[in-house]
Amino acid sequence: MAATMDRLRRECQDFFRQIYVGEDRVLVFGEGSRGAAWMLVGEAPGEQEALQGRPFVGKAGKQLDAFLNTLRLDRETLYITNAVKFRPTRVSAAGRTVNRAPTQEEVGLWQPWLKREIDAVKPRLVVTLGNTALRAVTGEALSIGEVHGKTFSERKPPVFALYHPAAVIYRRALQDTYQQDLATLRSVLNEMGVS
Ligand code: URA
Repeated sequence: MAATMDRLRRECQDFFRQIYVGEDRVLVFGEGSRGAAWMLVGEAPGEQEALQGRPFVGKAGKQLDAFLNTLRLDRETLYITNAVKFRPTRVSAAGRTVNRAPTQEEVGLWQPWLKREIDAVKPRLVVTLGNTALRAVTGEALSIGEVHGKTFSERKPPVFALYHPAAVIYRRALQDTYQQDLATLRSVLNEMGVS
């Protein structure tokens, strides 16, 4: 897998340079263990991810560590990436550069790369975090509020839909639901022999 991933990353970098000519953007490609049994797909990198060029570091990394802790799993068991491979930003009323949700066009632009990444990693399960990742992976207009905690086992590879951990922080009422979904995910991973 290493050679395939290196080639894919290089091709992705070339694509990135071509479409964002002269723009101050950083590519944040996926990373993880060779032959990872499962794959996590987030929405898009934030500030720290763009600074370090790595997915899920900084605050999002802490959320991820808590998430993995609940599942009793290490980062080494998984491959982690995002639906969109750069940090989408806007300028706030106070003049600060802040994160924004990616547009549908941006998600569509990166969708073929996400598919190629999944094909290269060949995980036994893809776990999507939030609506953007869910829709980018499945190509369907699904809503996380309706399908969270569900495994799409007919898909190849199967997909498990989870709320984005950041959404749970902002919507405290989701805490219990999220914990139940994590317990379901743990059972699904057990059935797949991921420990
Ligand atoms: N949120 C995401 O969805 N991905 C990251 O890499 C960081 C924060």
